[in-house]
Amino acid sequence: MTSFTIAIDGPAAAGKGTLSRLVAEHYGFHHLDTGLTYRAVAKALLDAGLPLDDEAIAEKTALEIELAGLDRSVLAQHAIGEAASRIAVMPAVRRALVAAQRRFAAREPGTVLDGRDIGTVVCPDAPVKLYVTASPDVRARRRYDEIIAAGGSAEFDTVFADVKKRDARDMERADSPLKPADDAHLLDTSEMSIDAAFRAARDIIDAALKTD
Ligand code: DC
Repeated sequence: MTSFTIAIDGPAAAGKGTLSRLVAEHYGFHHLDTGLTYRAVAKALLDAGLPLDDEAIAEKTALEIELAGLDRSVLAQHAIGEAASRIAVMPAVRRALVAAQRRFAAREPGTVLDGRDIGTVVCPDAPVKLYVTASPDVRARRRYDEIIAAGGSAEFDTVFADVKKRDARDMERADSPLKPADDAHLLDTSEMSIDAAFRAARDIIDAALKTD
């Protein structure tokens, strides 16, 4: 038996994290939020007071990252996300993390990996690829609501500018830029509830599982 991999990509705050968790739970598959691997490297560098622009140091840190126990609640801080998107442009860091992500993807009976380059680079042969997106305005609104619901404070305009800045960095980098794989199914969640997105994803995955 070989592992069945579901690749879920898309920009920040498009809803892919929630969708990936629901999908993994539904099919009994292992789930890896690959953004956490970049965040963990960034946090380790920040905590150790190491520079964020030294590729050799960042690579060494990336090679030491343990996938077990990555927890978004300790990696969610805005500063960590910012630092993660800076070290994510470094080819040596990506190489180290992609190798670990591919090992994870091979776990049986199946896996769900979500990120930016899963369908294009990490698992180009995945039998199901979803590209989950939403308009920048909708994504900024969701991120803003999350911050307020968590008791934080923010200005919508600042959150919106931040979403646009993160998109530009993720989509314009030379190594593995964020883009849909040619064979990805596009799911625009701008006007879709999470339930509707989950139903649409299940239809696509069930059809692929039948032909697998
Ligand atoms: O999804 P996130 O906000 O946790 O991701 C943090 C950063 O990591 C994001 O700016 C881009 C980068 N990332 C990446 O380059 N490739 C991935 N597969 C996942 C995340």
